Amino acid sequence: MSRVYNFSAGPAVLPEEVLKEAAAEMLDYNGTGMSVMEMSHRSKAFEEIITTAEQDLRDLMGIPDNYKVLFLQGGASQQFAMIPMNLMKNRVADYIITGQWAKKAAKEAEKYGKVNRIASSEDKTFSYIPDCSDLPVSEDADYVYICENNTIYGTKFKELPDTKGKTLVADVSSCFLSEPVDVTKYGVIYGGVQKNIGPAGVVIVIIREDLITEDVLPGTPTMLTYKTHADAKSLYNTPPAYGIYICGKVFKWIKAQGGLEAMKEKNEKKAKVLYDFLDQSRLFKGTVEKKDRSLMNVPFVTGDADLDAKFVKEAKAAGLENLKGHRSVGGMRASIYNAMPYEGVVALVEFMKKFEEENQ
Ligand SMILES: Cc1ncc(COP(=O)(O)O)c(C=O)c1O
Repeated sequence: MSRVYNFSAGPAVLPEEVLKEAAAEMLDYNGTGMSVMEMSHRSKAFEEIITTAEQDLRDLMGIPDNYKVLFLQGGASQQFAMIPMNLMKNRVADYIITGQWAKKAAKEAEKYGKVNRIASSEDKTFSYIPDCSDLPVSEDADYVYICENNTIYGTKFKELPDTKGKTLVADVSSCFLSEPVDVTKYGVIYGGVQKNIGPAGVVIVIIREDLITEDVLPGTPTMLTYKTHADAKSLYNTPPAYGIYICGKVFKWIKAQGGLEAMKEKNEKKAKVLYDFLDQSRLFKGTVEKKDRSLMNVPFVTGDADLDAKFVKEAKAAGLENLKGHRSVGGMRASIYNAMPYEGVVALVEFMKKFEEENQ
């Protein structure tokens, strides 16, 4: 067996310890004589898996009691609709447009009400986070929406926007559990887990209780109503059980690493190796304004599309996989999520140095 360093933006690298544990338990989970995949979601064993997973997530993020944790399906994209359907009481919402995912979310919300795009960084190909200290927040906005870490462009909100008292909704798909977070600043935090937490098929929604009501937009399906899942503790129907089990293992792994403070430290150390190299390189260039750089997704270019393609190809041959940038921006992107080891980033930088020397 040989594993590569996988820089995919998602689905992405998971901790090897977690994968090994899951492999060892594949045929017989904890003396049950069956795999978690084969198990009733109403069984005692699964009940313990999901309640432990929720508690560990609560511990890691310091989630207060007045927030519910929901394990749902449909990916992050389904939340683009579920959020307005459940939260748009006045049928008005403000969106901050920092990339394709926020753009898609805003477009979807437009099906349900008025969407005000109160800030955007599209003028410079989303290479920065706009100043959000004094936004024209709409008086009747039901919420203000952000995509906190922009997977495609490699930017991250270092400071949350001043929402002037309005509920903040954040897509944290690509920065979930990468650093400590003050949950009380948000009304809703959600993310697909397939980047930092587990296999695709699970989306986690952390939502303040007062936002969970029966008063949703007319025609909202039962399955797309937060209250359905909150009341049933994520067991209204068959949940993505195996995915939740892996998420639970990743929560334990993060706890064993020292929690979110330690995760942040490790992520900063990893990202620094790459950014420091980019800042002095004669060939490669980071594409993001320094102050807004993501710890998770690092886009870079040579400025020559053919050379970029050569780099991606040769990196792959050297065991450094999935470095091609998003199809909408080109160039390269290294996603260095929690489970990417420090050694992986060092190996990437060593390879970049060698490539630079060979391609002067
Ligand atoms: C920030 C962000 N939001 C949303 C999505 C969409 O996620 P999904 O494919 O789970 O719908 C992605 C996917 O890469 C993402 O990076």
